Amino acid sequence: MRILSGIQPTGSIHIGAYIGAISQWRELQKAGECIFFIADLHALTIPQEAKDFPKQTLDTAIELLAAGLDPEKCVIFIQSQIKEHAELCWLLNTITPIAELERMTQYKDKSKQFRKNINAGLLNYPVLQAADILLYQTESVPVGKDQQQHLELTKTIARKFNQRYGETFKVPEALILQEGAKIMALSNPKKKMSKSDPQSCLYIFDEPDAIKKKIMSAVTDTGKTVKYDPVKKPGIANLLVIYSSFSGRPIKEIEKQFGGKGYADLKKQLAELLVIQLEPFRRKKKELLAREIYVKEILERGRKRAETIAQTTMEEVRKKMGLF
Ligand code: ADP
Ligand code: TRP
Repeated sequence: MRILSGIQPTGSIHIGAYIGAISQWRELQKAGECIFFIADLHALTIPQEAKDFPKQTLDTAIELLAAGLDPEKCVIFIQSQIKEHAELCWLLNTITPIAELERMTQYKDKSKQFRKNINAGLLNYPVLQAADILLYQTESVPVGKDQQQHLELTKTIARKFNQRYGETFKVPEALILQEGAKIMALSNPKKKMSKSDPQSCLYIFDEPDAIKKKIMSAVTDTGKTVKYDPVKKPGIANLLVIYSSFSGRPIKEIEKQFGGKGYADLKKQLAELLVIQLEPFRRKKKELLAREIYVKEILERGRKRAETIAQTTMEEVRKKMGLF
C-alpha cells in the first residue's frame, strides 16, 4: 500500500497537526510504503520572506524527524525539488472546473483572510494538491478533517482524467481519524487549532512552562462535570480528546477518572501528561538542530526516490495526453 501526505513549512508543528495527521504517519510507517513531503509550493500562496524560507523548510524537515518519522522507513522530500508536481498541476488545471475550486472552504476562508492578495495560486491550491497525490499513484492519504474536501476533489479529478484519457491514476482514499481529526484551539474551542493563528497553538516542542500555562488557561465551558459532549461542552470535549490521544486511553475511561473531580484537576493532569509525552520531541529536535548535514542527506535521498516515481507517472501522463 502506498501512503502519501504533506505539510506546509509555515510554522512549528502543533498538537492538532500531530494528533490529526502525524501520529497516523508514524503508525503507517510500519504498514506500507510511506512518502511524506514538505509542501513549500503550497506555502507560497501566502507571502513568504525569501531569505527566511529555506530555513523554514529545513526546520520543518527537522521537526518531522523529531516527531517520529523514521528515514529508514519512509521517503521524506521537498515538493519544489520535484518539477513534476508543477507540471502535473498545470495539466490537471485543464480538466478542473473553476466552479469546483471556488466552492472549496479553505479557498473561501483564505480569500477572506487575505483580501488584498487573492492570487490564482490560492484558487488552484487543491489542483497542486491533487498533483502531489496522483503523481505517486497513492492509495491512502492520512490527513486531518480540514483536508477532506481537497481529497474529494482529488478523487474527482483522478476519475475525470481516467475517463477522458484512459486508466492512468489510482483513485486515492483519505485516512481521517474518528477521534482527533479536528483539534480545536485552546483559546477558542469553536475554532480549529491552526498555524495561521499562533495564539491558538500548543506546539509539540513547547517547554513545560508554556505547556502548563496554555493548558491551565484553556477556555472551558460553564458547568462543573467532566463529560464528553462536543456540542454543549466543546472545550472539555477537546481536552478529553487530547488526553485520550496522548495517553492511548479511551475517552470513556478518562471521563470516569475525573467523574467526581472538576475542570482544574483534568487540566492539571493533562498538562503533566503532555509535559512527559512531549519531552522526547523537544530532545530530538535539539539533537537534530545540530545535525543539519545529516538532515540534508535524508532530503537528498528522498528527492532521488521521489523523482524516480514522479518521472514514471509523468511519462505516462504525457503520452496519454498526446504531448509531443
Ligand atoms: P495548519 O492547518 O495549522 O496550517 P498544517 O498545514 O501544518 O496545519 O497541517 C498539516 C496536517 O495536519 C494536515 O493533514 C491537517 O489536516 C492536519 N491538521 C492541521 N490542524 C489540525 C487540527 N487542528 N486538528 C487535526 N488535524 C489538523
Ligand atoms: N494542504 C495540506 C495542508 O495544508 C498540505 C498538503 C499539500 C497535502 N499537498 C498535500 C496533504 C498532499 C496531503 C496530500 O495541510
